[in-house]
Amino acid sequence: MLPKKLTMPLRRNGMDPVPELGLMREQGPVQRMRRVFGINVWLVTGYDEAKAVLADTKSYSTDIRPMLGMGSDVTIGGLGFTDPPEHTRLRKILTPEFTLRRLARLQPVIDRVVSERLDAMEAAGPVVDLVEEFAFPIPFLVICELLGLPVEDREHFRKLGHARFDITEGGAGAFGAMSESRAFLQDAVNRQRLQPGDGLIGQIIRELGDDVSDDDLGGLADGVFTGGYETSASMLSLGTLALLREPASYALAGRPEHVDSVVAELLRYLSVVQITFPRFAKDDMELFGKPIKKGDVVIVSLSGANRDGALGADTDTINPHLDRPTHLGFGHGFHRCVGAELARMELRSAFLGLVGRFPQLELAVPPEQLTFRDLSIVYGVDSLPVRLHSAPGRVA
Ligand code: HEM
Repeated sequence: MLPKKLTMPLRRNGMDPVPELGLMREQGPVQRMRRVFGINVWLVTGYDEAKAVLADTKSYSTDIRPMLGMGSDVTIGGLGFTDPPEHTRLRKILTPEFTLRRLARLQPVIDRVVSERLDAMEAAGPVVDLVEEFAFPIPFLVICELLGLPVEDREHFRKLGHARFDITEGGAGAFGAMSESRAFLQDAVNRQRLQPGDGLIGQIIRELGDDVSDDDLGGLADGVFTGGYETSASMLSLGTLALLREPASYALAGRPEHVDSVVAELLRYLSVVQITFPRFAKDDMELFGKPIKKGDVVIVSLSGANRDGALGADTDTINPHLDRPTHLGFGHGFHRCVGAELARMELRSAFLGLVGRFPQLELAVPPEQLTFRDLSIVYGVDSLPVRLHSAPGRVA
């Protein structure tokens, strides 16, 4: 069990960070949270300070191998846990797959998946769980298409996807689930090496051949799945919930000329990725007046930084009409989300579709009955029962 003070940045009251987070930011944008096994853990909650830490390519490492007692010969895989120049090398393999041109091929797939889910909801209604019927299936099917995973493998893969961000048991469950889905994707890479598919895995194999190792490609595919599934699903479910509380914004999300600003404001307000990967200080240094020791852990609270007054007025509410500085919902700097544009495409299509099809959507249970994911790096709501059409006799 993690000490309560350490889990504070992951705790919320409904959709809002707990008040302690705001109080901490008021005391200063960089604060020491606790000392664990002789290592200081620092929390960054200020917007400018968060950007400065995340853009710093020299002072920190995100390589967790030393913490896990692993040598540098062990391949950790993915981008999040690697430092430059290794990170730069791996990211270069992935970025061509995320250009607007390459992503454009997924737009019809996304629109089709959204439309099929809306049909399925209509058929299952009048009350459905939006998490189950809409929020999870859409990003899952899109990631499967992106990676080029065969349809027959998808159900097994889906089951591996859920427990990955749960740290209620100190991370043990999450690490178990992590290695299982990693093994699954590694197997997919090995098979596509012999017969490259149409998606990202096959494309990279065709373009780079033996210049990319199976290990690297398995790690990258796993990072894409980890990064892109639960995050987008939470944005869809929590985003819908937030919009249902603000009917004017819900209506706005159904209009093509406004949906992008609604999505941007939801990404900021919800900050579903609550904290970034830990950054380990490489040397003693001063960080906005605080003495950081070599080996100290610096954690950026995205949910804290995204509610900072530096982002304009009323940061604790949704206001799509305000012209705010760029939010940090996708992080910042060289680890910034590689799938940001894909996520925006999904969110845009999904919200336009949802509001267009169900303009009178409403919550089907009292809000206090909703339960939220506890202590999860990716915040979410467990289920979201909604009524598709306003109940007869109710004022919409
Ligand atoms: C709304 C949905 C999403 C949100 C809120 C989100 C958020 C983030 C954040 C905050 C980071 C930076 C973490 C850090 O600096 O420690 C990140 C990194 C990353 N994301 Fe996303 N993400 C989303 C969707 C996606 C999608 C759809 C994909 C891929 C298909 C993806 C793939 C990645 C990868 C691979 C990284 C690691 C980048 C690196 O370390 O260089 N994400 N994401």
